[in-house]
Amino acid sequence: MQKQKYPPGTKLEFASAKHEFHHSLSRYIGETEKNLILVDRNTEKHCLPLLIEIMPLISQTPYILLDAGEKEKNIRRAEHVWTELMKYEADRESTLINLGGGVITDLGGFVASTYQRGIRFINIPTSLMGMADAAIGGKNAVNINHIKNQVGTFAPPETVMIFPAFLHTLPKAEMLSGFAEMVKTALAFDASLFKELLTTRIEDLPEKRKDLIFKTASLKHKVAVQDFYDKHIRQCLNFGHTLGHAFESLFARKGKEISHGVAVAAGMICESFLSQQLSGLSKKELIQIQSFLQNNFPPLEINPEDIDQMLHIMRHDKKISGHEFKLSLLTQAGKCQHRITCSEEMIQQSLEYYISCSA
Ligand code: GLY
Repeated sequence: MQKQKYPPGTKLEFASAKHEFHHSLSRYIGETEKNLILVDRNTEKHCLPLLIEIMPLISQTPYILLDAGEKEKNIRRAEHVWTELMKYEADRESTLINLGGGVITDLGGFVASTYQRGIRFINIPTSLMGMADAAIGGKNAVNINHIKNQVGTFAPPETVMIFPAFLHTLPKAEMLSGFAEMVKTALAFDASLFKELLTTRIEDLPEKRKDLIFKTASLKHKVAVQDFYDKHIRQCLNFGHTLGHAFESLFARKGKEISHGVAVAAGMICESFLSQQLSGLSKKELIQIQSFLQNNFPPLEINPEDIDQMLHIMRHDKKISGHEFKLSLLTQAGKCQHRITCSEEMIQQSLEYYISCSA
Protein backbone atom coordinates (compact mmCIF):
# COMPACT_ATOMS: atom_id res chain seq x y z
CA MET A 1 0.00 0.00 0.00
CA GLN A 2 1.24 3.45 -0.83
CA LYS A 3 2.05 5.56 2.21
CA GLN A 4 -0.22 8.58 2.61
CA LYS A 5 1.78 11.75 2.82
CA TYR A 6 1.21 14.65 5.17
CA PRO A 7 -0.74 17.28 3.28
CA PRO A 8 1.66 20.06 2.24
CA GLY A 9 1.70 23.54 3.64
CA THR A 10 1.51 22.94 7.34
CA LYS A 11 4.02 24.76 9.42
CA LEU A 12 5.13 24.78 13.01
CA GLU A 13 6.45 28.13 14.17
CA PHE A 14 8.02 29.20 17.43
CA ALA A 15 8.19 32.66 18.90
CA SER A 16 10.18 33.55 22.00
CA ALA A 17 9.52 37.28 21.89
CA LYS A 18 6.55 39.46 20.99
CA HIS A 19 8.14 40.83 17.82
CA GLU A 20 8.75 37.29 16.55
CA PHE A 21 5.15 36.36 17.21
CA HIS A 22 3.98 39.52 15.44
CA HIS A 23 6.18 38.68 12.47
CA SER A 24 4.70 35.15 12.17
CA LEU A 25 1.11 36.30 12.62
CA SER A 26 1.33 39.08 10.09
CA ARG A 27 1.97 36.51 7.36
CA TYR A 28 -1.46 35.02 7.97
CA ILE A 29 -3.62 37.91 9.03
CA GLY A 30 -4.24 40.62 6.49
CA GLU A 31 -6.69 43.51 6.47
CA THR A 32 -9.02 42.23 3.79
CA GLU A 33 -9.99 38.68 4.70
CA LYS A 34 -13.09 37.78 6.70
CA ASN A 35 -11.17 36.02 9.45
CA LEU A 36 -12.62 34.87 12.74
CA ILE A 37 -11.13 33.92 16.09
CA LEU A 38 -12.38 31.09 18.26
CA VAL A 39 -11.83 31.50 22.01
CA ASP A 40 -13.23 30.20 25.26
CA ARG A 41 -13.97 32.27 28.35
CA ASN A 42 -10.46 31.68 29.72
CA THR A 43 -8.57 32.59 26.59
CA GLU A 44 -10.88 35.56 25.95
CA LYS A 45 -9.76 36.92 29.31
CA HIS A 46 -6.13 35.81 29.52
CA CYS A 47 -4.85 35.41 25.96
CA LEU A 48 -6.87 37.55 23.55
CA PRO A 49 -5.66 40.85 25.13
CA LEU A 50 -2.02 39.75 24.62
CA LEU A 51 -2.77 38.75 21.04
CA ILE A 52 -4.32 42.18 20.39
CA GLU A 53 -1.42 43.96 22.10
CA ILE A 54 0.99 42.16 19.79
CA MET A 55 -1.15 42.57 16.69
CA PRO A 56 -3.58 45.50 17.12
CA LEU A 57 -5.27 44.68 13.79
CA ILE A 58 -6.77 41.63 15.50
CA SER A 59 -9.06 43.88 17.56
CA GLN A 60 -11.16 44.27 14.40
CA THR A 61 -11.47 40.52 13.91
CA PRO A 62 -14.75 39.18 15.29
CA TYR A 63 -14.49 36.36 17.75
CA ILE A 64 -16.69 33.40 18.61
CA LEU A 65 -16.87 32.63 22.29
CA LEU A 66 -17.40 29.21 23.91
CA ASP A 67 -17.54 28.16 27.54
CA ALA A 68 -14.36 26.46 28.70
CA GLY A 69 -13.94 22.73 29.28
CA GLU A 70 -14.07 19.31 27.68
CA LYS A 71 -17.87 19.17 27.96
CA GLU A 72 -18.02 21.90 25.29
CA LYS A 73 -16.31 19.68 22.73
CA ASN A 74 -19.53 18.41 21.26
CA ILE A 75 -21.51 18.55 18.05
CA ARG A 76 -23.95 21.20 19.35
CA ARG A 77 -21.09 23.61 19.97
CA ALA A 78 -19.68 22.75 16.57
CA GLU A 79 -23.03 23.62 15.02
CA HIS A 80 -23.02 26.89 16.94
CA VAL A 81 -19.61 27.76 15.49
CA TRP A 82 -20.69 26.76 11.94
CA THR A 83 -23.71 29.03 12.35
CA GLU A 84 -21.55 31.91 13.58
CA LEU A 85 -19.25 31.47 10.59
CA MET A 86 -22.31 31.74 8.33
CA LYS A 87 -23.52 34.81 10.22
CA TYR A 88 -20.18 36.51 9.61
CA GLU A 89 -20.27 35.35 5.97
CA ALA A 90 -17.05 33.42 6.29
CA ASP A 91 -16.05 31.85 2.99
CA ARG A 92 -13.22 29.89 1.43
CA GLU A 93 -10.97 32.95 1.72
CA SER A 94 -11.49 33.07 5.49
CA THR A 95 -9.22 31.72 8.17
CA LEU A 96 -10.39 30.53 11.57
CA ILE A 97 -7.85 31.37 14.27
CA ASN A 98 -8.12 28.88 17.10
CA LEU A 99 -6.79 30.52 20.26
CA GLY A 100 -6.94 28.08 23.14
CA GLY A 101 -6.13 24.70 24.58
CA GLY A 102 -6.92 21.26 23.19
CA VAL A 103 -10.69 21.72 23.23
CA ILE A 104 -10.55 24.89 21.13
CA THR A 105 -8.02 23.55 18.62
CA ASP A 106 -9.78 20.15 18.32
CA LEU A 107 -13.24 21.67 17.89
CA GLY A 108 -12.09 24.67 15.85
CA GLY A 109 -10.10 22.42 13.52
CA PHE A 110 -13.11 20.15 13.08
CA VAL A 111 -15.45 23.05 12.34
CA ALA A 112 -13.03 24.73 9.92
CA SER A 113 -12.16 21.52 8.10
CA THR A 114 -15.86 20.81 7.42
CA TYR A 115 -17.31 24.31 6.92
CA GLN A 116 -17.93 24.77 3.19
CA ARG A 117 -15.96 21.51 2.79
CA GLY A 118 -12.95 23.05 4.47
CA ILE A 119 -11.54 26.49 5.12
CA ARG A 120 -8.11 27.44 6.42
CA PHE A 121 -7.41 27.45 10.11
CA ILE A 122 -4.43 28.23 12.28
CA ASN A 123 -3.82 26.96 15.77
CA ILE A 124 -2.41 29.17 18.49
CA PRO A 125 -2.20 26.84 21.48
CA THR A 126 -2.34 28.53 24.87
CA SER A 127 -1.91 25.49 27.13
CA LEU A 128 1.18 23.36 27.59
CA MET A 129 -0.86 20.32 26.49
CA GLY A 130 -1.75 22.17 23.27
CA MET A 131 1.80 23.39 22.61
CA ALA A 132 3.39 20.02 23.24
CA ASP A 133 0.81 17.83 21.58
CA ALA A 134 -2.87 18.57 20.92
CA ALA A 135 -2.61 21.53 18.54
CA ILE A 136 -0.06 19.80 16.31
CA GLY A 137 -0.70 17.13 13.70
CA GLY A 138 -4.13 17.87 12.28
CA LYS A 139 -6.35 15.57 14.35
CA ASN A 140 -9.62 17.42 14.85
CA ALA A 141 -12.69 16.06 16.59
CA VAL A 142 -15.67 16.37 18.88
CA ASN A 143 -16.90 13.91 21.52
CA ILE A 144 -20.18 12.04 21.10
CA ASN A 145 -22.06 10.84 24.20
CA HIS A 146 -18.92 11.45 26.29
CA ILE A 147 -16.89 9.19 24.01
CA LYS A 148 -13.78 11.13 23.17
CA ASN A 149 -12.96 12.19 19.62
CA GLN A 150 -15.61 9.96 18.11
CA VAL A 151 -16.31 12.18 15.09
CA GLY A 152 -13.58 14.19 13.44
CA THR A 153 -11.21 14.83 10.59
CA PHE A 154 -7.56 14.56 9.72
CA ALA A 155 -6.95 18.04 8.34
CA PRO A 156 -3.81 20.08 8.95
CA PRO A 157 -3.83 23.64 10.21
CA GLU A 158 -2.03 26.14 7.97
CA THR A 159 0.34 26.70 10.84
CA VAL A 160 0.72 26.10 14.53
CA MET A 161 2.26 29.04 16.36
CA ILE A 162 3.89 28.32 19.68
CA PHE A 163 4.34 31.35 21.92
CA PRO A 164 5.12 30.21 25.49
CA ALA A 165 4.26 33.64 26.98
CA PHE A 166 0.63 32.45 26.99
CA LEU A 167 1.58 29.96 29.70
CA HIS A 168 2.14 32.66 32.33
CA THR A 169 -1.56 32.64 33.20
CA LEU A 170 -2.05 28.86 32.97
CA PRO A 171 -2.99 27.18 36.29
CA LYS A 172 -0.36 24.90 37.82
CA ALA A 173 -2.53 21.79 37.42
CA GLU A 174 -2.79 22.46 33.68
CA MET A 175 0.98 22.86 33.42
CA LEU A 176 1.38 19.49 35.14
CA SER A 177 -1.07 17.90 32.75
CA GLY A 178 0.85 19.20 29.72
CA PHE A 179 4.14 18.11 31.24
CA ALA A 180 2.90 14.49 31.16
CA GLU A 181 2.55 14.73 27.36
CA MET A 182 6.08 16.13 27.11
CA VAL A 183 7.40 13.18 29.12
CA LYS A 184 5.41 10.78 26.93
CA THR A 185 6.86 12.16 23.68
CA ALA A 186 10.38 12.12 25.12
CA LEU A 187 10.03 8.53 26.37
CA ALA A 188 8.68 7.38 23.04
CA PHE A 189 11.14 9.19 20.78
CA ASP A 190 14.05 11.00 22.40
CA ALA A 191 16.20 9.71 25.28
CA SER A 192 18.21 12.92 25.55
CA LEU A 193 15.02 15.00 25.88
CA PHE A 194 13.83 12.62 28.59
CA LYS A 195 17.17 13.09 30.39
CA GLU A 196 16.67 16.85 30.28
CA LEU A 197 13.11 16.59 31.58
CA LEU A 198 14.34 14.54 34.54
CA THR A 199 15.99 17.65 35.98
CA THR A 200 13.53 20.29 34.76
CA ARG A 201 11.27 22.28 37.05
CA ILE A 202 7.83 22.68 35.51
CA GLU A 203 7.69 26.33 36.56
CA ASP A 204 10.78 27.01 34.42
CA LEU A 205 9.12 25.83 31.19
CA PRO A 206 7.42 29.08 30.10
CA GLU A 207 10.66 31.08 30.27
CA LYS A 208 14.03 29.55 31.09
CA ARG A 209 13.31 26.15 29.53
CA LYS A 210 10.98 27.02 26.67
CA ASP A 211 13.52 25.29 24.43
CA LEU A 212 12.13 22.02 25.83
CA ILE A 213 8.62 22.94 24.70
CA PHE A 214 9.97 23.70 21.24
CA LYS A 215 11.89 20.39 21.15
CA THR A 216 8.80 18.40 22.15
CA ALA A 217 6.58 20.23 19.66
CA SER A 218 9.11 19.64 16.86
CA LEU A 219 9.24 15.94 17.65
CA LYS A 220 5.45 15.68 17.62
CA HIS A 221 5.33 17.55 14.32
CA LYS A 222 8.00 15.30 12.78
CA VAL A 223 6.11 12.17 13.79
CA ALA A 224 2.81 13.54 12.44
CA VAL A 225 4.52 14.44 9.15
CA GLN A 226 5.82 10.87 8.81
CA ASP A 227 2.50 9.22 9.61
CA PHE A 228 -0.26 11.78 9.29
CA TYR A 229 -3.07 9.20 9.24
CA ASP A 230 -1.89 7.37 12.36
CA LYS A 231 -1.21 4.02 10.73
CA HIS A 232 2.17 3.20 12.32
CA ILE A 233 4.80 5.33 14.08
CA ARG A 234 2.31 7.99 15.25
CA GLN A 235 0.66 5.31 17.37
CA CYS A 236 3.72 5.52 19.63
CA LEU A 237 2.30 8.86 20.82
CA ASN A 238 -0.30 6.68 22.56
CA PHE A 239 2.31 5.41 25.01
CA GLY A 240 0.71 5.61 28.48
CA HIS A 241 -2.70 6.39 27.02
CA THR A 242 -4.40 2.99 26.88
CA LEU A 243 -4.12 2.59 30.64
CA GLY A 244 -4.28 6.37 31.07
CA HIS A 245 -7.74 6.55 29.47
CA ALA A 246 -8.91 3.69 31.67
CA PHE A 247 -7.77 5.62 34.79
CA GLU A 248 -9.48 8.75 33.47
CA SER A 249 -12.77 6.94 32.81
CA LEU A 250 -12.66 5.08 36.13
CA PHE A 251 -12.33 8.30 38.11
CA ALA A 252 -14.94 10.06 35.97
CA ARG A 253 -17.40 7.23 36.73
CA LYS A 254 -16.63 7.64 40.43
CA GLY A 255 -17.46 11.34 40.06
CA LYS A 256 -13.84 12.32 40.91
CA GLU A 257 -12.52 13.78 37.68
CA ILE A 258 -8.73 13.74 37.30
CA SER A 259 -6.72 15.64 34.71
CA HIS A 260 -5.71 13.90 31.51
CA GLY A 261 -2.01 14.34 32.33
CA VAL A 262 -2.29 12.84 35.80
CA ALA A 263 -4.09 9.84 34.28
CA VAL A 264 -1.47 9.49 31.55
CA ALA A 265 1.34 9.64 34.14
CA ALA A 266 -0.25 6.69 35.98
CA GLY A 267 -0.78 4.99 32.61
CA MET A 268 2.92 5.45 31.80
CA ILE A 269 3.92 3.69 35.04
CA CYS A 270 1.72 0.70 34.13
CA GLU A 271 2.86 0.68 30.51
CA SER A 272 6.53 0.95 31.55
CA PHE A 273 5.96 -2.15 33.66
CA LEU A 274 4.46 -3.84 30.58
CA SER A 275 7.42 -2.60 28.52
CA GLN A 276 9.77 -4.29 30.95
CA GLN A 277 7.77 -7.52 30.70
CA LEU A 278 7.11 -7.52 26.96
CA SER A 279 9.36 -5.24 24.93
CA GLY A 280 12.78 -5.22 26.53
CA LEU A 281 12.79 -2.12 28.76
CA SER A 282 15.43 -2.70 31.43
CA LYS A 283 14.49 -2.96 35.10
CA LYS A 284 16.83 -0.02 35.79
CA GLU A 285 14.97 2.21 33.32
CA LEU A 286 11.60 1.06 34.63
CA ILE A 287 12.60 2.15 38.14
CA GLN A 288 13.98 5.46 36.86
CA ILE A 289 10.80 6.27 34.89
CA GLN A 290 8.54 5.15 37.70
CA SER A 291 10.25 7.18 40.43
CA PHE A 292 10.41 10.27 38.20
CA LEU A 293 6.66 10.03 37.52
CA GLN A 294 5.90 9.34 41.19
CA ASN A 295 7.95 12.39 42.22
CA ASN A 296 6.13 14.69 39.82
CA PHE A 297 2.55 13.44 39.70
CA PRO A 298 0.07 12.64 42.48
CA PRO A 299 -0.65 8.94 43.08
CA LEU A 300 -4.07 7.63 42.10
CA GLU A 301 -5.79 5.57 44.73
CA ILE A 302 -7.25 2.44 43.22
CA ASN A 303 -8.17 -0.81 44.90
CA PRO A 304 -8.19 -4.37 43.50
CA GLU A 305 -11.93 -4.11 42.68
CA ASP A 306 -11.21 -1.14 40.44
CA ILE A 307 -9.03 -3.37 38.27
CA ASP A 308 -12.06 -5.30 36.97
CA GLN A 309 -13.80 -2.05 36.24
CA MET A 310 -10.77 -0.75 34.33
CA LEU A 311 -10.50 -3.94 32.27
CA HIS A 312 -14.18 -3.58 31.45
CA ILE A 313 -13.60 0.00 30.32
CA MET A 314 -10.62 -1.05 28.23
CA ARG A 315 -12.56 -3.79 26.45
CA HIS A 316 -14.80 -1.04 25.18
CA ASP A 317 -11.90 1.14 24.16
CA LYS A 318 -11.33 1.31 20.42
CA LYS A 319 -7.72 0.16 20.63
CA ILE A 320 -8.47 -3.49 21.33
CA SER A 321 -9.22 -6.42 19.06
CA GLY A 322 -10.73 -9.54 20.67
CA HIS A 323 -9.46 -9.98 24.20
CA GLU A 324 -5.99 -8.90 23.36
CA PHE A 325 -4.79 -5.36 23.64
CA LYS A 326 -2.45 -3.68 21.20
CA LEU A 327 -0.22 -1.22 22.98
CA SER A 328 2.67 1.07 22.15
CA LEU A 329 5.46 0.08 24.52
CA LEU A 330 9.05 1.14 25.16
CA THR A 331 12.02 -0.93 24.14
CA GLN A 332 14.19 1.55 26.03
CA ALA A 333 13.76 5.15 27.19
CA GLY A 334 13.45 7.14 23.95
CA LYS A 335 12.42 4.21 21.74
CA CYS A 336 8.97 2.80 21.25
CA GLN A 337 7.34 -0.01 19.31
CA HIS A 338 3.67 0.09 18.36
CA ARG A 339 1.07 -2.68 18.20
CA ILE A 340 2.56 -4.97 20.82
CA THR A 341 0.09 -7.68 21.81
CA CYS A 342 -0.74 -7.74 25.48
CA SER A 343 -3.12 -10.11 27.31
CA GLU A 344 -5.72 -9.04 29.86
CA GLU A 345 -3.73 -10.91 32.45
CA MET A 346 -0.69 -8.74 31.79
CA ILE A 347 -2.78 -5.57 32.03
CA GLN A 348 -4.11 -6.83 35.34
CA GLN A 349 -0.54 -7.44 36.55
CA SER A 350 0.48 -3.93 35.53
CA LEU A 351 -2.36 -2.46 37.61
CA GLU A 352 -1.39 -4.65 40.58
CA TYR A 353 2.14 -3.36 40.12
CA TYR A 354 0.83 0.22 40.13
CA ILE A 355 -1.05 -0.43 43.39
CA SER A 356 1.99 -2.04 44.99
CA CYS A 357 4.40 0.71 44.04
CA SER A 358 2.12 3.57 45.07
CA ALA A 359 1.36 1.99 48.49
N1 GLY B 1 -2.08 12.99 20.49
C1 GLY B 1 -1.65 11.90 19.72
C2 GLY B 1 -1.60 12.18 18.25
O1 GLY B 1 -1.76 13.32 17.84
O2 GLY B 1 -1.43 11.29 17.49
